[in-house]
Amino acid sequence: MIFYFSGTGNSLHAARTIPQAQGVGFLPIAKEFDKKEDAFEFTLADGELLGFVFPVYAWAPPKMVLDFIARIKVTGGRPYVFSVCTCGDEEGRATRALQRAIAKKGLALDSAFTVQMPNNYILGFDVDPKDVEQEKLRNAGQKLEEINRLLAQRQSGVFRLIPGSMPALKTTVVNPLFNRFAMSTKKFYATDACTRCGLCEKICPVHTITVKEKPAWGKACTQCLACINRCPARAIQYGSGTVQKGRYAHPDCDANSN
Ligand SMILES: Cc1cc2nc3c(=O)[nH]c(=O)nc-3n(C[C@H](O)[C@H](O)[C@H](O)COP(=O)(O)O)c2cc1C
Ligand code: SF4
Ligand code: SF4
Repeated sequence: MIFYFSGTGNSLHAARTIPQAQGVGFLPIAKEFDKKEDAFEFTLADGELLGFVFPVYAWAPPKMVLDFIARIKVTGGRPYVFSVCTCGDEEGRATRALQRAIAKKGLALDSAFTVQMPNNYILGFDVDPKDVEQEKLRNAGQKLEEINRLLAQRQSGVFRLIPGSMPALKTTVVNPLFNRFAMSTKKFYATDACTRCGLCEKICPVHTITVKEKPAWGKACTQCLACINRCPARAIQYGSGTVQKGRYAHPDCDANSN
């Protein structure tokens, strides 16, 4: 079983590629939360794949992924556990943070991978230039093939991570500050270009957007940036800083995916 979280489709793509090759199921974490259950119970056989695929947010796993892990209960045999995090450049110690979360459930990673993919964080940076975006997608395709080979062999102790510079500082000091101060919806708004198509409301993983005359944002937000990147009318902005920025979504994204 593979659990994934994705805002703009990079991690969705990775999460889809693996089950296709390994013949296992995959579930979106956001949809599991929609079931409003207190605990998520899964029974796995010895050696069965248990994977977590997610984007890196400020050098750590998204809060929704950590909240999900806090509620899972895995019974049965000893699964083969792996993680794949997608990021624009570097993961810091995101995998280590995931490792700590799953350890509380009696699980340990057999293998873990960082896959660089196009950047979607347009609040701080811009999207990658087209040639860089294409190169990242090509390289990611090759890396996912290699990951699939290693997973098929159930290799243990394979950690192919891209921590970047000062990873501990970024994950343990900067990430908590990001979670505290940068997760607000206050600056989101929709311009007159909005056609009221309802897509932003449909794809928001925390259901914080309501589209009436125009979209309105509630307080909850994981900063996945699905709304601003995937609005077909390019009507969503975040303050004034995103007006001149590009938008990014993986080609695998469609109106039903999150
Ligand atoms: C809130 C936020 C924080 C991010 N932080 C990082 C980061 O610390 N390092 C990095 O390389 N990329 C960072 N990114 C870029 C994403 O990790 C990257 O584009 C990822 O592949 C997006 O996955 P998705 O399309 O499945 O949502 C960040 C993106 C967002 C939205
Ligand atoms: S996705 Fe864009 S166009 Fe559609 S309702 Fe939301 S803001 Fe409006
Ligand atoms: S409001 Fe936008 S950025 Fe926040 S969780 Fe919903 S879709 Fe993601």
